[in-house]
Amino acid sequence: MDHFEIRNGVMHAEDVALPDIADAVGTPVYVYSRATLERHARVFRDALSDVPEKLIAFAVKSNPNLAVLKVLQQQGYGADVVSVGEMRRALAAGIAPEKIVFSGVGKTGIEMKAALEAGIGQFNIESEEEGLELAEIAEAMGRTAHCALRINPDVDAGTHDKISTGKADNKFGVPIDEAGQIFGKLAGQPGVNLRGVAVHIGSQLGDLAPLERAFEKLGALVVALRGAGHTITHVDLGGGLGVPYRKEDVMPPPADYGAMVARVTKDWGVALIFEPGRVIAGNAGVLLTRVVRVKRGINDPFVIVDAAMNDLARPALYGAYHDFAAVEPNGADMTANIVGPICETGDTFAMGRTCDQLKTGDLAVFRTAGAYGATMASSYNSRGFVAEVLVDGDRHAVVADRIDAGEIMDAERVPDWLV
Ligand code: LLP
Repeated sequence: MDHFEIRNGVMHAEDVALPDIADAVGTPVYVYSRATLERHARVFRDALSDVPEKLIAFAVKSNPNLAVLKVLQQQGYGADVVSVGEMRRALAAGIAPEKIVFSGVGKTGIEMKAALEAGIGQFNIESEEEGLELAEIAEAMGRTAHCALRINPDVDAGTHDKISTGKADNKFGVPIDEAGQIFGKLAGQPGVNLRGVAVHIGSQLGDLAPLERAFEKLGALVVALRGAGHTITHVDLGGGLGVPYRKEDVMPPPADYGAMVARVTKDWGVALIFEPGRVIAGNAGVLLTRVVRVKRGINDPFVIVDAAMNDLARPALYGAYHDFAAVEPNGADMTANIVGPICETGDTFAMGRTCDQLKTGDLAVFRTAGAYGATMASSYNSRGFVAEVLVDGDRHAVVADRIDAGEIMDAERVPDWLV
């Protein structure tokens, strides 16, 4: 459930009419609902009420906006980060360093140092090579890096290939059948406190079965590692829960996920870490856009909106579906191709989509844009970065300024020797 609803014929974000935001801030603009973020954060936490010891670390990559992170920090959430940039955002939002988990296959030495200096809670090590480098850096700094070893369980998550991470040929984690040996090697390194294992098999999962298979494999590994004399106190189960992009999508409810987790992990005797992103932020945001013009097409008309693939990349990158709806629907439908202004055919949000009837100047939204939306923007075609707005009841605030193309150009130089 979210808080983007039509009231008196006009779509509102909570109690704010979207045309008011368009007037104040312009379009395109991402609009987030605080109440929806908080609701999702509560629902996910409540779903895990049978897990005695846990840290819920929001996947910052899904929506790194500082105000969004602040809302989640106030909900007691930690942060799953994959770069020093994300770590700094989490810290700036007031998330305690010990609630920060650092994942990712390509952490650089500089990033490891910065994270050790900040005193983050856990590094999820993705390879033996990375573990050895981290151990060396930590030891030289006189610090201890608390770590989990990320396991590649070779489970097909049944999601889009580009967002699947747990198959043997994906770049993530260490192969499960080599995990015991690599764990043994890394656990013996000074500078490292290897205290657990981690897994994340993919994103936008519509089925709990692959997750359960991965968790069971992890449980067996925990038993084996303990059998080999290792102390395992933490297991990170990653993120991945899918959200409905279409009204008719049926996704596993967080409560079912929580019950499965509690059942599978009940004898593990560890603190569990979760890294949800999309399930918290996805339906807490829309991309508000204005129709530039409607152009006749051979079959269907092209509804050309002022948002483009650089603002919301998911349809172009993954063929992803985002619901598209008028802000002031007149009750009639049309079938249209929804496209942005960018000069390539990939800048297409939908072909032959039946949607609310729209004409030049009308406002519309792409729904479910709160996760992997603004954060994946680029400035392609010398378009700027869109603004972001957070709504809270009847008030709203710009939480990220629009960065126009001129500001981006100002950061560029023509060297003297070229003039
Ligand atoms: N933990 C790790 C280690 C991850 O790699 C990810 C997502 C998450 C947690 C959060 O997953 P979530 O709960 O949001 O599914 N750009 C793509 C999604 C990429 C996800 C990458 N990793 C998209 O727009 O669909």
